[in-house]
Amino acid sequence: MGKFHVMNHPLIQHKLSIIRDKKTATNEFREVVNEISNLMAFEVTRDMPLMDVDIETPMAVAHAKQLAGKKVAVVPILRAGIGMVDGILQLLPSARVGHIGMYRDETTFEPHEYFCKMPSDIEEREVLVVDPMLATGGSAIMAIDALKKRGAKNIKFVCLVSAPEGVKALEEAHPDIDIYAASLDEKLVDGYIVPGLGDAGDRLFGTK
Ligand code: PRP
Repeated sequence: MGKFHVMNHPLIQHKLSIIRDKKTATNEFREVVNEISNLMAFEVTRDMPLMDVDIETPMAVAHAKQLAGKKVAVVPILRAGIGMVDGILQLLPSARVGHIGMYRDETTFEPHEYFCKMPSDIEEREVLVVDPMLATGGSAIMAIDALKKRGAKNIKFVCLVSAPEGVKALEEAHPDIDIYAASLDEKLVDGYIVPGLGDAGDRLFGTK
């Protein structure tokens, strides 16, 4: 059974306030989304398996630890998920990146998949699906469906702001995955997270 984690680290909370602010312009928004993603990656990787290794220091042999070769794929949901990729790759430089394109119908909020390109060994990798917003949950559910269809088994979902409705829907559709969010917001109004941060894709890329 997956868990829902809200990351209340003070640095994450402080930076989240910066991107919520409607006065924050595109360049700063982009930079701070990357910084938050980097901090979240630190927490999300907390349970990565280690193995024992002997390392010769200049003084003696140290019985030390190394990551047990776990392979990771970061999968942004296009477009807005792209804003979270670099911050995560800074901590996991050898991770592969898969892309999945989803757009929400502007009136029904039904998600539609328009692109999918994954690393060929996706089924062997720990997959971090990233998207700044978990609103109705439709996009995340459909993206994870597509990944499971391609054989991915070990999946985590990482977002910045989430709505209770989206968390519930994602937990019901994919009870096996862990969900990480920087905030659980109050509610969903007309498909948008309130108070939220507006439309993450538009704020990242300066579109409207
Ligand atoms: C936004 C957001 C998520 C999705 C969340 O994307 O980035 O992908 O909506 O909503 P849901 O949980 O109700 O599915 P949007 O469709 O606006 O596309 P964009 O990222 O290209 O702006």
